[in-house]
Amino acid sequence: MNVAIIGTGYVGLTTGACLAFLGHEVTCVDVAEEKIAALERGEIPIYEPHLAELIAGARANLQFTTDYAQAIPEAQVVFIAVGTPSSGTGAPNLQYLESAARAVGQHLGRHYTVIVNKSTVPIGSGNWVGSLVRDAVGDRPDRRFSVASNPEFLREGTAIYDTLYADRVVIGTDEEHAAEVLYTLYRPLLEQTFQPPPYLPRPEDLAAVPLISTDLASAELIKYSANAFLALKISFINEIGCVAEKVGADITQVAKGIGLDTRIGNRFLQAGIGWGGSCFGKDTAALVSTASEYGLDMPIVKAAREINRRQRERIVEKLLHELKILKGRSIGLLGLAFKPNTDDLREAPAIEIARKLLERGARVRVHDPVAMARFQREHPDLAVTACESATAVARDADALVLVTEWSEYLELDWETLASTMRSAIVLDGRNALDRPRLARAGFRYLSLA
Ligand code: UDX
Repeated sequence: MNVAIIGTGYVGLTTGACLAFLGHEVTCVDVAEEKIAALERGEIPIYEPHLAELIAGARANLQFTTDYAQAIPEAQVVFIAVGTPSSGTGAPNLQYLESAARAVGQHLGRHYTVIVNKSTVPIGSGNWVGSLVRDAVGDRPDRRFSVASNPEFLREGTAIYDTLYADRVVIGTDEEHAAEVLYTLYRPLLEQTFQPPPYLPRPEDLAAVPLISTDLASAELIKYSANAFLALKISFINEIGCVAEKVGADITQVAKGIGLDTRIGNRFLQAGIGWGGSCFGKDTAALVSTASEYGLDMPIVKAAREINRRQRERIVEKLLHELKILKGRSIGLLGLAFKPNTDDLREAPAIEIARKLLERGARVRVHDPVAMARFQREHPDLAVTACESATAVARDADALVLVTEWSEYLELDWETLASTMRSAIVLDGRNALDRPRLARAGFRYLSLA
């Protein structure tokens, strides 16, 4: 099928690359000229494992352009995958969605087109996009279209895997024909009939991907509820972690013990600093904001947000308690990205922790295996010292904080590190380090639970 994708961020680019890999003719559109030029040259603007290989392999089916007129008129399916960043109030900023919808309406071809909201948009946006497109189409009855919602559930760092071997595909539309078109588009993925890429073999137990075919509003709500539930699972274990700390329980064992109950499940029960990234914070805020428009309070989701905020404060409180004075101390942060295997710094705990430490007069030394350049570009206001390695971060430091559990940090030469620090203190913000091993290396080991 002929597909256009608007927006070449994580979601748009991954979706475009995967659909091209599945054999569809895909044109990716973005208003950012430098981004499109880079993609044309084979450069990938984001760090995402296997994305470069996937794009290179599917290049014959992929085009990149800044020109809507080149992408939309031929397309049978148009995905809108533009950013919906948080505005100050919690409600997302929909200006990019609005301009994309208008541009699609202006350029629709003389055939039936399915317009798909792929970005996480507030509930009701499907209808709104439909009305914007209708306005832009104006008096041209041969431009027929339907709007559908097809939320993504991909995690950064495993975006390709999550797309090709999805837990489910959700298609929400009030028009049967649109559902049929999208079913045809996703058929190779739903039936798992494609030849897996050599670097991402198909999981052995995966025979087919379930499809949820529903109405627009339900699909939109599925996306928000999924993210809110995952966020609150993390906050739940972090709240239990506070109790575990007081009573002397081991939170990792507690998480294992409850997670093995198949009704609960063991994923997203890793206690620590809490969630960051582009989705959980934004989506929980948007859900609370939508609910309030209907006069509804969401105390559970609000509590999950509050606990997440407190976890970051607890890092600074722990350091303060341990070192008594932070002014003039040198604190090393291991990891900046909001999680391993990405260079994404959106809502990354490291940013806020660095800021709080600097405000208290500490000197902050930082390292990240891939996010350093982006950090320096996006946060020139934070007067931290960028170090070329974890070893350099540790030199003369009063304490180290593991902020992102990159695998290379788990296997550091801790003995050497301890010998170069002013005081060998490590605060394991992710409960990811080998506590006995660190104790043997001479560290005082602290964690959040
Ligand atoms: C998330 C959702 O998982 C995905 O389905 C959605 O479409 C986009 O948002 P992402 O933000 O890429 O994906 O990362 P994810 O792997 O979900 O982690 C989010 C945050 O939670 C990270 O900061 C991570 O460190 C933290 N986390 C995750 C925990 O603190 N504990 C856990 O057990 C799991």
